[in-house]
Amino acid sequence: MQTKSTETTHIPLVITHQRSRLALAEYRLCQKERRLARYKNIVVLTGAGISAESGVSTFRDAGGLWEKHRIEDVATPEAFARNPDLVQDFYNQRRAQLFSVEPHSAHTALGKLEELHDGNVTIVTQNVDNLHERGGSKNIIHMHGELAKVRCTQCSSVFEWLDDCTQETVCPTCGSAPALRPHIVWFGEMPFDMDRIENLLYECDLFVSVGTSGNVYPAAGFVSAVRSYGKAHTIEVNLEPSEGATYFAETRHGLAGELLPGLVNEILD
Ligand code: APR
Repeated sequence: MQTKSTETTHIPLVITHQRSRLALAEYRLCQKERRLARYKNIVVLTGAGISAESGVSTFRDAGGLWEKHRIEDVATPEAFARNPDLVQDFYNQRRAQLFSVEPHSAHTALGKLEELHDGNVTIVTQNVDNLHERGGSKNIIHMHGELAKVRCTQCSSVFEWLDDCTQETVCPTCGSAPALRPHIVWFGEMPFDMDRIENLLYECDLFVSVGTSGNVYPAAGFVSAVRSYGKAHTIEVNLEPSEGATYFAETRHGLAGELLPGLVNEILD
């Protein structure tokens, strides 16, 4: 009797418990969706991982760019001073690659977010490719520069540039040569638009980081800055936990192309 009575009372309890767990999970999901849909000022930080599914190499994954080239040889002002032809060639090859890659579902999801969101969406990207533009985003800060631009070291003019650039290429504005360099922020140089980015981080109520390993500052420090202001929800979307994963309130791990369309729909709901 005792056993039976225990069983009869125990089974409904388990079911009730499961039901209430399900209800709680649904409630939490509902709350989360409601929360995401509430945000107005959104900053999305992106890194090489968002372009990986388009076929652009990342930097620090196995087979990444920094396994094949030394940063000191191709990505510092000293490298350019020492061997400008090698550095120009490195960026010419990467610029040419822009023609063979296409934006994918993560880029277009962010384009859709900017178009349909009732608020502000800014992409702050460490990427130098143009896949966000081609995915429909307009409000983009390229903090590490752009492959599709070169800059004159003599007159500071910046040009849209899709061809190769060499030490013989003459600056279209001032006529100097050699004068043009990739419009890329090298190690040891100051990223672009930091004042504007700092304001955006202060103002945002949702900060999403996509496809960045969290190894390179200042971008690696954005999440802790945002958290210190205490106003924004923070989400990491990355293939694996980044160096800074523990700073995020929420983490979603997997392919950006699979995760971002759903995340964007939650925000737009
Ligand atoms: N979806 C989501 N995340 C991905 C995917 C994917 N399909 N593929 C790779 N990742 C993740 C990796 O797990 C890794 O954590 O993207 C991250 C890429 O990290 P890095 O290669 O270090 O690139 P990033 O963080 O953008 O590097 C920052 O370093 O060398 C400099 O100037 C360069 O802008 C670059 C900066």
